[in-house]
Order: sequence, then C-alpha cells, then structure tokens
Amino acid sequence: MKHLLSIETLPADDIRGILDLSAKMKVERGHHAAHPLRHQCWALIFSKSSTRTRLSFEVGIRELGGDAIFLSAQDIQLGRGEPIKDTARVMGRMLHGVVFRTFAQRDVVEFAELSGIPTVNALTDEEHPCQILADLFTINEKLGSFEGKTICFVGDGACNVPRSWLWAASKLDFTLKIAAPKSYQPAPELLAQINRGNIVCTDDLHAAAREADVLYTDVWVSMGKENESEYRNAQLSGYQINQRLVAEAKPNALVMHCLPAYRGKEITDEVFERHAETIFDQAENRLHAQKAILSLLVAKS
Ligand code: CP
Ligand code: NVA
Repeated sequence: MKHLLSIETLPADDIRGILDLSAKMKVERGHHAAHPLRHQCWALIFSKSSTRTRLSFEVGIRELGGDAIFLSAQDIQLGRGEPIKDTARVMGRMLHGVVFRTFAQRDVVEFAELSGIPTVNALTDEEHPCQILADLFTINEKLGSFEGKTICFVGDGACNVPRSWLWAASKLDFTLKIAAPKSYQPAPELLAQINRGNIVCTDDLHAAAREADVLYTDVWVSMGKENESEYRNAQLSGYQINQRLVAEAKPNALVMHCLPAYRGKEITDEVFERHAETIFDQAENRLHAQKAILSLLVAKS
C-alpha cells in the first residue's frame, strides 16, 4: 500500500490489516513503542471544510512523531489555478506525505502519481475511504465483527460515503442496503461494475431498515452541492433516521453518522442523542484508523 486513494483500489487484505492495526493503535495510544513518522513532515491540503478529518490527521501525524502543516487550497497557488501536476512535483520534493481533500478523484490520483510521496484521500466527490475504514473498525468494536451483518445506509445514496460503502461491500462479507429515492441511488453503471449479490439499492426505506444491524446516514447536502440545498432537502425528506425507523431495525441496532449532522433533516435530534456514544466513538475512531493507515504507508514507502 503506497497510497490510500479509494476503497475501490484497496485490496481486502489491506483493509483487514488496517482494521487490525487500528485496534492496536487505540489500545496503545499515549505509549506507542514506535514513532514511524519521526523526522517526517506531512501536509494536509484541503479544498473543502473539515473538522474531524483535519483534526484526526493533525493529531495522528504528531502522535506518530511527525510534523503536520495545514494548507487551505485557497491560500496556496493551487487555489489560483496552479496545476495539480506542478503542485505535486514541488510538494514531492519537500514533504514526506500528503493528505488531500478535494472535489475530483482524478486530482488525488494525479497528485499521488506525480508527487511520488504517500498520498491519502481525505474525501473527494467520489470516495471517503478513511471514513469507511474507521466505520468498519467501529462496527467490529461494537458488534464483534462486520461479517454477516446488514448495514443500511439511508439518505443520499449517490454521494461519496455510500460509494465507499459500496466498494467495501464489493470485497467484504456484509450485506449493504442503500435506501434512497431513485434519483439519489448509486449510478446503474457503478452497480453493474460491482455486481455482487450482497448489495441492495431500493427506494423502500422500511424494507431496507428491517432487520438491519446498523442504520447509517450522511448529510443530504454534500460539500459542493450547496446550491441544490432546497431541492435536496425536499427530495430526501422521507429518508430520515427517526425513532420509527430505528424500531424497524434489529433490537440494539447501531445508529451511525459520519458527521456533521443536521438534526431534523437526515436524523432526528432524539435518535442522534440516544446514539451519541456510538456516533462520537465513530468520530474518535477516525484518529486510530488513520494512524494505522499512516503507519502502513510509511512502512511500505
Ligand atoms: N466525517 C468527516 O469527514 O468530517 P469532517 O468533514 O469534519 O472532516
Ligand atoms: N457526503 C459528505 C460527507 C461529509 C463528511 C460531504 O461530502 O459533504
């Protein structure tokens, strides 16, 4: 594993390796025997807002012995039109690794190719791989294993988070049900490419939630889609995690949210607060999972 660009391109064995190491990172936090990023300087280049991803990478890099520099894309020449391929070649000569949050997946891929240094996708319009790795780790922690479980994603089924879930379901043994209005379901070409029997996409929210081990949601309006807010909120209004839906899932089903949450939209305040411990454990696990990713990247580079 030289880069972490997507779940699509991440072999199942690498996923399992990251999850095993995440557990170790969590237990050993504060007394790590090794500091694999010692004498290293990593940059975080972000073209979109972030609380969790930025914080967990900055803290994680420091806890592994490295230095982290945060670069808002707007403050560097990238924001004024300097090409990715030039930015990548400059950064590759000065840094040991980059964590990149942006719009187009191809920009992260191009950066990785041309910089020659370990590159991590910290969210694009297509994928949010670090989120899904931390979420799988959280499900393992809470339910013993994700294997054999049913994860029901509710809401905008076409955005980055459910896309990464789809790729995870394409290579691991759990059932994924995506409940979304037809126009917010994953593209048919993507589903045809994956073509695996453990994946169901439906507009029947209640059928999807029935017997689920995990109900999972994300914002209805992803970053970059703000001009569609009103339309999306109307279109997705029936696809909310509320108490009625939770009652249809398995007893003690987990309710998960990648955050940030918009109460009264994709989840009610009541459900959010009842499941806050799971949701904030999920947020904390970003730190442990990403420390595992960083360690494995520098071990291989
Ligand atoms: N879940 C997540 O990636 O949160 P941020 O946008 O705050 O980083
Ligand atoms: N789908 C959301 C995820 C936020 C972490 C977005 O792209 O804004």
